[in-house]
Amino acid sequence: MRFSTLSALVAVASAAFSFAAPAPISPASNALEARCLCQDIHSIIVDVTLTITPLVEELTYITSENCTVEILTPIIGEIKVALQGAIEEVSAITEVTVITLLTTVEGVVLTITEVAELVCGLLYLIFAALAAILRVVTSANAAAVTALLCEVVELVATLLQLICNLVGGLLAVLIPLVAEVVLSVIVELDLTAKFAFLGIAWSTVSASATTIYSTSVATITATA
Ligand SMILES: *[C@@H]1O[C@H](CO)[C@@H](O)[C@H](O)[C@H]1NC(C)=O
Repeated sequence: MRFSTLSALVAVASAAFSFAAPAPISPASNALEARCLCQDIHSIIVDVTLTITPLVEELTYITSENCTVEILTPIIGEIKVALQGAIEEVSAITEVTVITLLTTVEGVVLTITEVAELVCGLLYLIFAALAAILRVVTSANAAAVTALLCEVVELVATLLQLICNLVGGLLAVLIPLVAEVVLSVIVELDLTAKFAFLGIAWSTVSASATTIYSTSVATITATA
């Protein structure tokens, strides 16, 4: 499986070139995070994606019976820790060159489109799970559960903005690739202000977004 190969490479490369000061490791961090002394955007995004995938899977099978703050809090808490770790890692990248930033541990230099695809994969993973929660949550639990989800989405906003600031030209390539569910959840949680940097016309989301974004994706795919 490609992801396990990548994480093994991340581990080997981090051990061999431990030139970065390790980020403070919180007790909830898993072994993979502990090994990651990430300097490149690929490692950071792949790492956080790997960490949250099993957590998000738990959320995907949530039902209205167990869609409660009590059940969601520990899972959401771990997702937040993973996102905070990625935010720290991206924030720590200030002095590397763009080439270093975009070079994977395998020595491949990513294109902006590849970075955009990685980011969109992460966004889709998170927001599809949040959408699954919003679909089943009962009105009795809605306010408290929504507040919990907003904490995750605010961290995503911070991470996304940091990545867009680091990788010049990413935003323009990213926008058309962002899945509609991502934008719909942002609108539903009333967090569009946190994503103002995307420059999205939010009034077009939900109702007409499908047509607009699928057309853009088709165009990008055709020209890629
Ligand atoms: C919620 O309940 C469903 C159905 O029993 C189960 O499949 C799922 O794993 C539960 N999720 C959590 C997070 O407890």
